[in-house]
Amino acid sequence: MPTSADEQRRELTQLAEQIAYHEAAYRRGEAEIPDSEFDEMFERYGELADALGLEEGERLDAAPGADHTEGFETVEHRVAMLSLEKLSPNRRDSHGEPIPLREQLEQWYVRRLKELELEDGARLPLLVEPKIDGISVSLLYEGGELTRAVTRGDGRSGDVITRQVEESGAVPRRLEGVSSGTLEVRGELYWPTSAFRAYNARLAAAGERTIINPRNGCAGLMKRKEPEGLGEAGIRSFLYQVPWVEGVELPDSQSGILRWLADRGAPVYVDEILRADDVAAAFAHCEAYGARRATLDFDIDGMVIKIDELKWYGRLGETGHHPHWGIAFKFPPERKATRLLDVSVQVGKSGKLTPVAHLEPVLLAQTTVSRASLHNFVEIERKDIRIGDTVLVEKAGEIIPQVVGVKKDARPADARAVSRPTTCPSCGSEPVVEEIFIYCVNPACPAKVSERLQHFASRSAMDVEGLGEKLIAQVAQAYSIATPDALFGLTVEQLARLERMGEKSAQNVVDALARAKGRGLARVLVGLAIRHLGERMAEDLASYFGSAERLLEFAARYVAGDEAAVEALAPEKGTGAIEGLARKTADVIFAELDSPATRAVFAALAGHGVKLDAVVETREEVEGVANKTFVLTGTLPTLKRTEAAERIKIAGGKVSGSVSKKTDFVVAGEEAGSKLDKAQKLGVAVIDEATLLQMLGRG
Ligand code: IVH
Repeated sequence: MPTSADEQRRELTQLAEQIAYHEAAYRRGEAEIPDSEFDEMFERYGELADALGLEEGERLDAAPGADHTEGFETVEHRVAMLSLEKLSPNRRDSHGEPIPLREQLEQWYVRRLKELELEDGARLPLLVEPKIDGISVSLLYEGGELTRAVTRGDGRSGDVITRQVEESGAVPRRLEGVSSGTLEVRGELYWPTSAFRAYNARLAAAGERTIINPRNGCAGLMKRKEPEGLGEAGIRSFLYQVPWVEGVELPDSQSGILRWLADRGAPVYVDEILRADDVAAAFAHCEAYGARRATLDFDIDGMVIKIDELKWYGRLGETGHHPHWGIAFKFPPERKATRLLDVSVQVGKSGKLTPVAHLEPVLLAQTTVSRASLHNFVEIERKDIRIGDTVLVEKAGEIIPQVVGVKKDARPADARAVSRPTTCPSCGSEPVVEEIFIYCVNPACPAKVSERLQHFASRSAMDVEGLGEKLIAQVAQAYSIATPDALFGLTVEQLARLERMGEKSAQNVVDALARAKGRGLARVLVGLAIRHLGERMAEDLASYFGSAERLLEFAARYVAGDEAAVEALAPEKGTGAIEGLARKTADVIFAELDSPATRAVFAALAGHGVKLDAVVETREEVEGVANKTFVLTGTLPTLKRTEAAERIKIAGGKVSGSVSKKTDFVVAGEEAGSKLDKAQKLGVAVIDEATLLQMLGRG
């Protein structure tokens, strides 16, 4: 524990940067550290923020975590999707002694009895379920038919993923024997380990980048804009909650609900649950089930303990974050101690120099681990990790091993500090420090070049099928390819001459390159691997500027310090024309875009006929709809809500999830709820489907 406020503040600032970084990586589906470590960082952040008396507004943990994806319709959850309070292995009593999980569960149970004004010895049965590590989803069934699927989002509103969920085949399209009434069912979408492995094996065989972990992979698939063929991935679900229902008679206990859902063909935990009469039995089941973890075809990160009788739920209430009727028991992730033999430096696509731990091999979650990530040099210094130390290793998302801690009391006398690299290990040039990271900025650095080419061809960027890691390494070496534009100059003859390549596969790659030329500006921008320029920012820049020409022209003005240009797009806090583009980020992005190297790449790409304009969906602006904001509520007589939203967008309008003063029209269908009330309160125009169709010119 640092002593002075200065030290605390320094640690807090570093933690805040790390948290922001890892949160962004997580949102991109590229988590680098295990959840447990993220939670620990967050907990430590909370402690420091408390100790320093940080105001609500200044705290990271007070900001609502928005989790919406561009291009998806957003809707408000009728009942907020909260998260569960956790029993924490780090909780301590007033003497600083850790409180055993079992005791914490006992305390939780006793508090429930008190809240319900029940006697100490009263019977309050519990239901224990596995806590599957997937993504939560809300499903709307109307007259027994699945009509909408929504992500958790920020808990208040989520993204509509109906088509993705339908295509995936993970949840029933109808509840057998239910023909009237409406209910929302919540559950978890997950990727069974076996299906995930099979999918990755197919990707690897095709020379494509594999997916790091099943949970983020599942989240990524559910946000795929073209969901056709998603069924092949084998996503599955467990449904476990009905937060509200109208016009359907339901059992009065959680165990009854699960049985009811199972009887109607829904996938629910059946063999996995236990109705326990007391805390001892519940706890014993948590531990016993945990021992089976490695044999299951899905990842669980803990167990959920719920009050079984639903009649108590209303009385128990909730905080803004957690309901009081349930609690999560988290398993500790498998963690092993081993010796840190050495630290080497790896060069990433953006030139980031990442420390890699070389370990004495150790068996961890079924594989032998001899290398692990150390994240960054600030983290090494913060944790004071030295070569020769005994370190603790864990797996992130059960796949990539990470060094998560160090046993300082076991430090040998000859342990050596890890020094920050003063040269790039690949090209020898002097690196630069930016925030918590160190970068090689030499555009010709060979390690960086190879990583960048791979990234350019990858799925998230230009998506050149068949041009995977190995082939890139081969062409880069054989034909001295250093910039992505040169890939488009590859010929069938050149490719066919390479080892393990035939005429046919060479032709396929050339065809794939030709197809990739039309992907548009946003994908090109992603492919350039410019720091801070991720998928979302690339899409925003592409649609704002419309073409590479206008974007580069602006970059030059920005770099030249044209105040008007800077202010309009990137004011200090990122509240300008492009959401989230703050000054510091913009400085890096535009400097790189305006560099001679990037300009040369753009010119060469244009020379190869690569499309450098934004790809716009075919839109036909309709007067009266274009640039107006609509909110949809209730069930419309003929259109599905997704269809209505799609039509509004094609006509140039916007669709929002919540009513505000900025809303132009609320389209209300049957059983419109609170949004209609709000619209009336704010005096926003309320129209019906027929009027909307008329406005769209199709009525
Ligand atoms: S009940 C208030 N039951 O764990 C949310 N959740 O933090 C109550 N989860 O967001 C959800 N298995 O995504 C519940 N058997 C289970 C679960 C489960 C996994 C997830 C869910 C939720 C998170 C709780």
